[in-house]
Amino acid sequence: MIRLGILGAGAIAKTMAKTIRMMNDNGYDRIQLYGIASRSLAKAEAFAQENGVIHAYGSYQDMVNDPDIDLVYIATPHSHHYEHAMLCLEHGIPVLVEKAFTANAEQSRKLLAYAEEHHLLATEAIWTRYQPMRQMINDAVFSGIIGTPKIVVADLSKPIAHKERIQKPELAGGVLLDMGIYPINFAEMICGHPTGVVSVCTGNEAGMDLNDAYLFTFENGVIGNLYSSAEAFSASDGMIHGTLGYIIVRNVNNPSAIEIYNLDNELIRAIDAPKQLTGYEYEVMETVEALEKGWLECPSMPHAETIHVMELMDTIRKQLGVVYPFEK
Ligand SMILES: NC(=O)c1ccc[n+]([C@@H]2O[C@H](COP(=O)([O-])OP(=O)(O)OC[C@H]3O[C@@H](n4cnc5c(N)ncnc54)[C@H](OP(=O)(O)O)[C@@H]3O)[C@@H](O)[C@H]2O)c1
Repeated sequence: MIRLGILGAGAIAKTMAKTIRMMNDNGYDRIQLYGIASRSLAKAEAFAQENGVIHAYGSYQDMVNDPDIDLVYIATPHSHHYEHAMLCLEHGIPVLVEKAFTANAEQSRKLLAYAEEHHLLATEAIWTRYQPMRQMINDAVFSGIIGTPKIVVADLSKPIAHKERIQKPELAGGVLLDMGIYPINFAEMICGHPTGVVSVCTGNEAGMDLNDAYLFTFENGVIGNLYSSAEAFSASDGMIHGTLGYIIVRNVNNPSAIEIYNLDNELIRAIDAPKQLTGYEYEVMETVEALEKGWLECPSMPHAETIHVMELMDTIRKQLGVVYPFEK
């Protein structure tokens, strides 16, 4: 059984704890909610009590010093993923790192090179890559039912610009790394890597992007029209427009349904997502399988793909003029 430690006792840490509890309650016993580490012992203890975690640690260092930890889930802001994941790897502990994997591509390359060199699993917790809907969407798009795909439109927008991790340059803020990464991954899971990108944004006074638009061209001739806002609210759907109709994917952040429309604008097929616990169980199961089999990466999000997405986001940030203080 894999003993999981969670590093950082924030919002997504709580969701991960709930996911593991639900997995265990549903008979999946290959992972255990073993540890929670916070910069404050009182916070870690409260988290452990509320979320059914066995051990609480008052510092990240204390948790990585525990020889019984088999895997750490990094649940801190983007700015700190590199430092915190490296701390675990240096103590011989594999990592499941929240998206965005790091703040920039250079950090990703260094972290993954270290993990590979030391034969430790490192993988990015971008949940949509691991979910069964990924294949179901591609099956629908490439079944021929909408003809040849020509345009992909996708966005993820929620009014969360007030949050520290979005506002602050020192936390690698902005909407791109936090939410823009989802429409980008959505388009890439269908079309592969883009051949070109043009991006614009509006942002806050600290220079962080809050409303972004990214235009992609793909090798297969598809155009991607992607956007993300930390100020507006939207349905956050994805759409694939083809020569014989179009597909709507409800919620690119956790796809719940696929709807297929013909040239008469009639709904001809609707496919629901398989029943899920929280939707995060798929990344956990694949990470556990990878650890059990001695893999260094997860097939759903290989290292090369994580580095590619980070390089793409570096390019986009250059176009947007978004620079984090630790990069200057
Ligand atoms: N996959 C998803 O669906 C999803 C959803 C939301 C967020 N995320 C990702 O998860 C990560 C964390 O997001 P979150 O919403 O959980 O954020 P959050 O609620 O702000 O929690 C982040 C935690 O990081 C720790 N931390 C360490 N250094 C910090 C610093 N300098 N400033 C602030 N916090 C610091 C804190 O834990 P302690 O005080 O306990 O040390 C804090 O509670 C981000 O990478 C985000 O993109 C993913």
